[in-house]
Amino acid sequence: MTTGVRERAPTKQELAAALKRARESTLRLVEPVTDEQLVAQVSPIMSPLVWDLAHIGWFEELWLIRRLAGSEPSLERFDHLYDAFQHPRGERSSLPILTPPDARAYLADVRRRALEILDDIEFDYSDPLLRDGYVYGLVLQHELQHQETMLQTLQLAGVAHARHDQLRVPPRPADVLVPAGSFTLGTNDEPWAYDNERPAHVVELPAFTIERHPVANERFAEFIENGGYRTRRYWSDDGWEWLQAECIEAPPYWEAVSPAEPVQHISFYEAEAVAAWAGKRLPTEAEWEKAAKCAAVDMLGEVWEWTSSAFTGYPGFTVFPYAEYSEVFFGDEHRVLRGGSWATDPLVARVTFRNWDYPQRRQLFSGVRLAADA
Ligand SMILES: [Fe+2]
Repeated sequence: MTTGVRERAPTKQELAAALKRARESTLRLVEPVTDEQLVAQVSPIMSPLVWDLAHIGWFEELWLIRRLAGSEPSLERFDHLYDAFQHPRGERSSLPILTPPDARAYLADVRRRALEILDDIEFDYSDPLLRDGYVYGLVLQHELQHQETMLQTLQLAGVAHARHDQLRVPPRPADVLVPAGSFTLGTNDEPWAYDNERPAHVVELPAFTIERHPVANERFAEFIENGGYRTRRYWSDDGWEWLQAECIEAPPYWEAVSPAEPVQHISFYEAEAVAAWAGKRLPTEAEWEKAAKCAAVDMLGEVWEWTSSAFTGYPGFTVFPYAEYSEVFFGDEHRVLRGGSWATDPLVARVTFRNWDYPQRRQLFSGVRLAADA
Protein backbone atom coordinates (compact mmCIF):
# COMPACT_ATOMS: atom_id res chain seq x y z
CA MET A 1 0.00 0.00 0.00
CA THR A 2 3.00 2.30 0.19
CA THR A 3 3.11 5.08 -2.38
CA GLY A 4 6.76 4.28 -2.90
CA VAL A 5 9.38 6.75 -3.99
CA ARG A 6 8.35 8.50 -7.15
CA GLU A 7 10.81 8.43 -10.00
CA ARG A 8 9.66 11.77 -11.35
CA ALA A 9 7.80 14.80 -10.13
CA PRO A 10 4.03 14.50 -10.49
CA THR A 11 2.51 16.38 -13.42
CA LYS A 12 -0.03 19.16 -12.99
CA GLN A 13 -2.70 16.82 -14.30
CA GLU A 14 -1.80 14.22 -11.68
CA LEU A 15 -1.90 16.80 -8.92
CA ALA A 16 -5.26 18.11 -10.07
CA ALA A 17 -6.62 14.56 -10.27
CA ALA A 18 -5.36 13.77 -6.76
CA LEU A 19 -6.98 16.93 -5.39
CA LYS A 20 -10.23 15.99 -7.11
CA ARG A 21 -10.17 12.47 -5.71
CA ALA A 22 -9.54 13.71 -2.17
CA ARG A 23 -12.36 16.26 -2.42
CA GLU A 24 -14.79 13.68 -3.75
CA SER A 25 -14.14 11.45 -0.77
CA THR A 26 -14.54 14.37 1.68
CA LEU A 27 -17.90 15.24 0.16
CA ARG A 28 -18.96 11.58 0.08
CA LEU A 29 -18.20 11.33 3.78
CA VAL A 30 -20.56 14.18 4.69
CA GLU A 31 -23.18 13.45 2.05
CA PRO A 32 -25.53 11.57 4.42
CA VAL A 33 -24.88 14.02 7.26
CA THR A 34 -27.54 16.63 8.09
CA ASP A 35 -26.66 20.29 8.66
CA GLU A 36 -27.68 19.82 12.28
CA GLN A 37 -25.16 16.99 12.64
CA LEU A 38 -22.50 19.06 10.86
CA VAL A 39 -22.68 21.83 13.45
CA ALA A 40 -22.98 19.59 16.53
CA GLN A 41 -20.23 19.56 19.14
CA VAL A 42 -20.14 15.79 19.51
CA SER A 43 -17.27 15.59 21.96
CA PRO A 44 -14.90 18.07 23.58
CA ILE A 45 -12.00 16.35 21.83
CA MET A 46 -13.48 16.71 18.33
CA SER A 47 -14.32 19.70 16.17
CA PRO A 48 -17.81 20.14 14.77
CA LEU A 49 -17.67 18.61 11.28
CA VAL A 50 -18.49 21.92 9.64
CA TRP A 51 -15.31 23.32 11.20
CA ASP A 52 -13.25 20.50 9.66
CA LEU A 53 -14.82 21.25 6.27
CA ALA A 54 -14.04 24.96 6.27
CA HIS A 55 -10.63 24.32 7.87
CA ILE A 56 -9.74 22.04 4.94
CA GLY A 57 -10.53 24.98 2.65
CA TRP A 58 -8.66 27.45 4.86
CA PHE A 59 -5.52 25.27 4.84
CA GLU A 60 -5.75 24.91 1.07
CA GLU A 61 -6.16 28.66 0.64
CA LEU A 62 -3.21 29.31 2.95
CA TRP A 63 -0.78 27.08 1.07
CA LEU A 64 -2.00 26.83 -2.52
CA ILE A 65 -3.27 30.39 -2.93
CA ARG A 66 -1.82 32.77 -0.35
CA ARG A 67 1.65 31.22 -0.19
CA LEU A 68 1.97 30.33 -3.87
CA ALA A 69 0.37 33.41 -5.43
CA GLY A 70 0.92 35.92 -2.63
CA SER A 71 -2.83 36.64 -2.47
CA GLU A 72 -4.62 38.22 0.45
CA PRO A 73 -6.79 35.93 2.58
CA SER A 74 -10.42 35.85 1.44
CA LEU A 75 -11.40 36.92 4.96
CA GLU A 76 -8.96 37.99 7.67
CA ARG A 77 -11.07 36.47 10.40
CA PHE A 78 -10.61 32.99 8.93
CA ASP A 79 -7.08 32.83 10.32
CA HIS A 80 -8.48 33.32 13.78
CA LEU A 81 -11.32 30.83 13.32
CA TYR A 82 -9.64 28.07 11.36
CA ASP A 83 -6.06 28.03 12.55
CA ALA A 84 -6.12 24.87 14.68
CA PHE A 85 -3.91 26.53 17.30
CA GLN A 86 -6.24 29.40 18.06
CA HIS A 87 -9.07 27.54 19.79
CA PRO A 88 -9.38 24.09 21.35
CA ARG A 89 -11.69 21.69 19.52
CA GLY A 90 -14.30 21.81 22.25
CA GLU A 91 -14.82 25.55 21.77
CA ARG A 92 -15.16 25.62 18.03
CA SER A 93 -18.93 25.21 17.81
CA SER A 94 -19.40 28.38 19.83
CA LEU A 95 -17.27 30.47 17.43
CA PRO A 96 -18.78 32.46 14.54
CA ILE A 97 -17.70 29.77 12.06
CA LEU A 98 -19.20 29.32 8.60
CA THR A 99 -22.59 27.63 8.27
CA PRO A 100 -22.72 24.34 6.36
CA PRO A 101 -23.83 25.96 3.05
CA ASP A 102 -21.20 28.70 3.40
CA ALA A 103 -18.49 26.18 4.28
CA ARG A 104 -19.31 24.14 1.17
CA ALA A 105 -19.29 27.27 -0.99
CA TYR A 106 -15.95 28.35 0.53
CA LEU A 107 -14.42 24.94 -0.17
CA ALA A 108 -15.54 25.09 -3.80
CA ASP A 109 -14.34 28.67 -4.27
CA VAL A 110 -10.90 27.95 -2.82
CA ARG A 111 -10.56 24.89 -4.99
CA ARG A 112 -11.47 26.79 -8.14
CA ARG A 113 -8.81 29.41 -7.39
CA ALA A 114 -6.20 26.83 -6.37
CA LEU A 115 -6.64 25.01 -9.68
CA GLU A 116 -6.25 28.26 -11.62
CA ILE A 117 -2.96 28.88 -9.85
CA LEU A 118 -1.82 25.30 -10.46
CA ASP A 119 -2.55 25.87 -14.12
CA ASP A 120 -0.44 29.02 -14.28
CA ILE A 121 2.39 28.18 -11.93
CA GLU A 122 5.96 27.69 -13.10
CA PHE A 123 7.37 24.92 -10.96
CA ASP A 124 10.58 26.26 -9.50
CA TYR A 125 12.28 23.11 -8.31
CA SER A 126 14.84 24.99 -6.25
CA ASP A 127 11.96 26.08 -3.99
CA PRO A 128 11.53 23.25 -1.47
CA LEU A 129 7.81 24.01 -1.27
CA LEU A 130 7.44 23.25 -4.96
CA ARG A 131 10.00 20.50 -5.41
CA ASP A 132 8.15 17.30 -6.33
CA GLY A 133 4.91 19.24 -5.85
CA TYR A 134 5.54 19.12 -2.08
CA VAL A 135 3.03 21.82 -1.15
CA TYR A 136 0.31 19.97 -3.06
CA GLY A 137 1.23 16.80 -1.20
CA LEU A 138 0.93 18.73 2.05
CA VAL A 139 -2.57 19.99 1.24
CA LEU A 140 -3.71 16.63 -0.11
CA GLN A 141 -2.52 14.68 2.91
CA HIS A 142 -4.05 17.27 5.21
CA GLU A 143 -7.47 16.78 3.64
CA LEU A 144 -7.14 12.99 3.67
CA GLN A 145 -6.05 12.98 7.32
CA HIS A 146 -9.03 15.15 8.23
CA GLN A 147 -11.33 12.60 6.61
CA GLU A 148 -10.20 10.03 9.14
CA THR A 149 -10.71 12.53 11.96
CA MET A 150 -14.19 13.30 10.64
CA LEU A 151 -15.00 9.61 10.52
CA GLN A 152 -14.05 9.39 14.20
CA THR A 153 -16.47 12.26 14.91
CA LEU A 154 -19.22 10.57 12.91
CA GLN A 155 -18.68 7.39 14.87
CA LEU A 156 -18.75 9.24 18.22
CA ALA A 157 -21.99 10.88 17.06
CA GLY A 158 -23.50 7.49 16.28
CA VAL A 159 -24.00 8.57 12.66
CA ALA A 160 -21.48 6.18 11.16
CA HIS A 161 -20.68 2.74 12.34
CA ALA A 162 -17.02 2.64 11.51
CA ARG A 163 -16.19 -0.97 10.79
CA HIS A 164 -13.39 -2.73 9.02
CA ASP A 165 -15.41 -5.73 7.91
CA GLN A 166 -12.93 -6.90 5.32
CA LEU A 167 -10.05 -7.34 7.79
CA ARG A 168 -9.39 -10.73 9.31
CA VAL A 169 -6.44 -11.54 11.51
CA PRO A 170 -5.57 -14.87 13.12
CA PRO A 171 -6.19 -15.25 16.87
CA ARG A 172 -2.55 -16.28 17.38
CA PRO A 173 -0.40 -14.63 14.72
CA ALA A 174 3.05 -16.03 14.08
CA ASP A 175 6.07 -14.29 15.54
CA VAL A 176 8.57 -12.89 13.08
CA LEU A 177 12.18 -12.78 14.25
CA VAL A 178 13.99 -9.58 13.36
CA PRO A 179 17.72 -10.20 13.84
CA ALA A 180 20.00 -7.74 15.62
CA GLY A 181 21.61 -5.10 13.48
CA SER A 182 21.29 -1.66 12.04
CA PHE A 183 18.71 -0.25 9.68
CA THR A 184 17.67 3.18 8.41
CA LEU A 185 14.86 4.81 10.37
CA GLY A 186 12.92 7.55 8.60
CA THR A 187 13.32 8.78 5.06
CA ASN A 188 15.12 11.35 2.94
CA ASP A 189 13.53 10.40 -0.34
CA GLU A 190 9.81 9.99 0.14
CA PRO A 191 9.01 13.28 -1.61
CA TRP A 192 5.86 14.03 0.40
CA ALA A 193 7.10 12.80 3.78
CA TYR A 194 6.53 15.19 6.67
CA ASP A 195 9.38 16.87 8.50
CA ASN A 196 8.98 14.48 11.46
CA GLU A 197 9.83 11.49 9.21
CA ARG A 198 13.20 13.08 8.35
CA PRO A 199 16.13 12.83 8.30
CA ALA A 200 16.83 9.18 7.60
CA HIS A 201 19.35 7.91 10.13
CA VAL A 202 20.92 4.62 11.06
CA VAL A 203 19.67 2.90 14.20
CA GLU A 204 21.14 -0.20 15.81
CA LEU A 205 18.67 -2.60 17.45
CA PRO A 206 19.04 -5.87 19.34
CA ALA A 207 17.10 -8.86 18.01
CA PHE A 208 13.36 -8.92 18.74
CA THR A 209 10.23 -10.71 17.66
CA ILE A 210 7.06 -9.06 16.42
CA GLU A 211 3.72 -10.59 15.54
CA ARG A 212 2.66 -10.79 11.93
CA HIS A 213 -0.73 -9.18 12.67
CA PRO A 214 -2.28 -6.88 15.23
CA VAL A 215 -4.22 -8.35 18.17
CA ALA A 216 -7.67 -9.67 17.22
CA ASN A 217 -10.90 -9.00 19.12
CA GLU A 218 -11.04 -12.70 19.98
CA ARG A 219 -7.74 -12.47 21.83
CA PHE A 220 -8.69 -9.20 23.45
CA ALA A 221 -11.89 -10.87 24.68
CA GLU A 222 -9.72 -13.47 26.42
CA PHE A 223 -7.80 -10.68 28.09
CA ILE A 224 -11.09 -9.27 29.37
CA GLU A 225 -12.39 -12.69 30.49
CA ASN A 226 -9.11 -13.34 32.29
CA GLY A 227 -9.71 -10.23 34.38
CA GLY A 228 -7.39 -8.03 32.33
CA TYR A 229 -9.16 -4.85 33.37
CA ARG A 230 -9.02 -5.82 37.04
CA THR A 231 -5.45 -7.07 37.30
CA ARG A 232 -3.11 -4.37 38.58
CA ARG A 233 0.11 -5.94 37.37
CA TYR A 234 -0.80 -5.63 33.68
CA TRP A 235 -1.06 -1.85 33.97
CA SER A 236 1.44 0.95 34.27
CA ASP A 237 0.92 3.41 37.15
CA ASP A 238 -0.53 5.99 34.77
CA GLY A 239 -2.62 3.36 33.05
CA TRP A 240 -4.06 2.08 36.31
CA GLU A 241 -4.88 5.59 37.46
CA TRP A 242 -6.66 6.26 34.17
CA LEU A 243 -8.54 2.98 34.41
CA GLN A 244 -9.79 3.69 37.93
CA ALA A 245 -10.89 7.20 36.98
CA GLU A 246 -12.70 6.09 33.83
CA CYS A 247 -14.23 2.83 35.15
CA ILE A 248 -13.51 1.08 31.87
CA GLU A 249 -14.22 -2.62 31.28
CA ALA A 250 -13.92 -2.96 27.49
CA PRO A 251 -13.08 -0.91 24.39
CA PRO A 252 -15.86 1.39 23.12
CA TYR A 253 -18.34 -0.19 20.66
CA TRP A 254 -17.21 -3.58 22.02
CA GLU A 255 -20.72 -5.12 21.79
CA ALA A 256 -20.68 -4.87 18.00
CA VAL A 257 -17.27 -6.30 17.12
CA SER A 258 -16.55 -9.53 15.29
CA PRO A 259 -13.92 -11.90 16.70
CA ALA A 260 -11.49 -12.06 13.79
CA GLU A 261 -11.14 -8.32 13.25
CA PRO A 262 -8.24 -6.46 14.85
CA VAL A 263 -9.23 -4.81 18.12
CA GLN A 264 -9.60 -1.05 17.71
CA HIS A 265 -10.38 2.03 19.78
CA ILE A 266 -8.01 0.98 22.53
CA SER A 267 -5.90 3.49 24.41
CA PHE A 268 -2.15 3.23 24.78
CA TYR A 269 -2.74 2.04 28.34
CA GLU A 270 -4.98 -0.81 27.21
CA ALA A 271 -2.43 -1.69 24.53
CA GLU A 272 0.28 -1.92 27.18
CA ALA A 273 -1.96 -4.02 29.43
CA VAL A 274 -2.94 -6.58 26.81
CA ALA A 275 0.72 -6.91 25.89
CA ALA A 276 1.67 -7.55 29.52
CA TRP A 277 -1.14 -10.11 29.85
CA ALA A 278 0.22 -11.92 26.77
CA GLY A 279 3.74 -11.91 28.28
CA LYS A 280 4.91 -9.48 25.63
CA ARG A 281 5.38 -5.74 25.17
CA LEU A 282 4.72 -2.97 22.67
CA PRO A 283 7.32 -2.48 19.94
CA THR A 284 9.28 0.75 19.93
CA GLU A 285 8.61 2.74 16.80
CA ALA A 286 12.11 1.91 15.55
CA GLU A 287 11.34 -1.81 15.96
CA TRP A 288 8.01 -1.32 14.22
CA GLU A 289 9.63 0.38 11.24
CA LYS A 290 12.50 -2.10 11.07
CA ALA A 291 10.03 -4.99 10.92
CA ALA A 292 8.14 -3.27 8.11
CA LYS A 293 11.29 -2.40 6.14
CA CYS A 294 13.62 -5.33 6.79
CA ALA A 295 11.43 -8.30 7.72
CA ALA A 296 8.93 -7.13 5.08
CA VAL A 297 5.93 -7.72 7.30
CA ASP A 298 2.88 -6.03 5.77
CA MET A 299 1.99 -3.58 8.50
CA LEU A 300 -0.07 -0.95 6.72
CA GLY A 301 -3.77 -0.26 6.67
CA GLU A 302 -5.16 -2.53 9.39
CA VAL A 303 -5.34 -0.39 12.55
CA TRP A 304 -3.09 2.29 13.95
CA GLU A 305 -0.67 0.49 16.22
CA TRP A 306 0.49 2.01 19.48
CA THR A 307 4.23 1.91 20.02
CA SER A 308 6.06 2.47 23.29
CA SER A 309 7.84 5.53 21.90
CA ALA A 310 7.21 9.15 22.81
CA PHE A 311 6.83 11.52 19.86
CA THR A 312 10.15 13.31 19.40
CA GLY A 313 12.22 14.75 16.57
CA TYR A 314 14.77 12.53 14.88
CA PRO A 315 18.42 13.56 15.28
CA GLY A 316 18.99 16.47 12.91
CA PHE A 317 15.28 17.32 12.70
CA THR A 318 14.46 20.59 10.96
CA VAL A 319 11.07 22.23 10.81
CA PHE A 320 9.51 22.19 7.36
CA PRO A 321 7.43 23.98 6.33
CA TYR A 322 5.86 25.04 9.65
CA ALA A 323 6.42 24.18 13.31
CA GLU A 324 2.78 23.57 14.16
CA TYR A 325 2.54 20.33 12.21
CA SER A 326 4.99 18.33 14.33
CA GLU A 327 7.48 20.21 16.43
CA VAL A 328 5.06 21.71 18.92
CA PHE A 329 3.92 18.18 19.83
CA PHE A 330 7.37 16.80 20.56
CA GLY A 331 7.96 15.70 24.14
CA ASP A 332 6.77 13.08 26.55
CA GLU A 333 3.03 13.73 26.39
CA HIS A 334 2.18 11.82 23.23
CA ARG A 335 2.81 8.27 22.10
CA VAL A 336 3.55 7.33 18.50
CA LEU A 337 1.17 5.19 16.47
CA ARG A 338 2.25 3.55 13.25
CA GLY A 339 0.86 1.79 10.22
CA GLY A 340 -2.29 3.69 9.28
CA SER A 341 -5.73 2.21 9.78
CA TRP A 342 -8.26 0.80 7.34
CA ALA A 343 -9.65 4.36 7.29
CA THR A 344 -6.32 5.96 6.35
CA ASP A 345 -5.80 6.82 2.72
CA PRO A 346 -2.90 4.88 1.12
CA LEU A 347 -1.32 8.19 0.15
CA VAL A 348 -0.82 8.81 3.86
CA ALA A 349 -0.29 5.28 5.22
CA ARG A 350 3.39 4.82 4.46
CA VAL A 351 5.98 2.89 6.41
CA THR A 352 7.71 6.01 7.74
CA PHE A 353 4.53 7.93 8.64
CA ARG A 354 4.25 8.86 12.32
CA ASN A 355 0.95 9.53 14.04
CA TRP A 356 0.70 10.55 17.68
CA ASP A 357 -1.88 11.08 20.36
CA TYR A 358 -2.37 11.20 24.11
CA PRO A 359 -2.07 7.77 25.77
CA GLN A 360 -5.68 7.86 27.02
CA ARG A 361 -7.27 8.54 23.63
CA ARG A 362 -9.70 5.94 22.21
CA GLN A 363 -11.48 7.72 19.38
CA LEU A 364 -8.69 6.57 17.04
CA PHE A 365 -8.92 3.42 14.97
CA SER A 366 -6.13 2.17 17.16
CA GLY A 367 -5.00 -1.32 18.05
CA VAL A 368 -1.78 -3.03 18.93
CA ARG A 369 0.80 -5.45 17.59
CA LEU A 370 2.84 -7.32 20.17
CA ALA A 371 6.61 -7.61 20.32
CA ALA A 372 9.12 -9.29 22.60
CA ASP A 373 12.85 -9.45 23.19
CA ALA A 374 14.38 -12.29 21.21
FE1 LIG B 1 -5.83 20.43 10.06
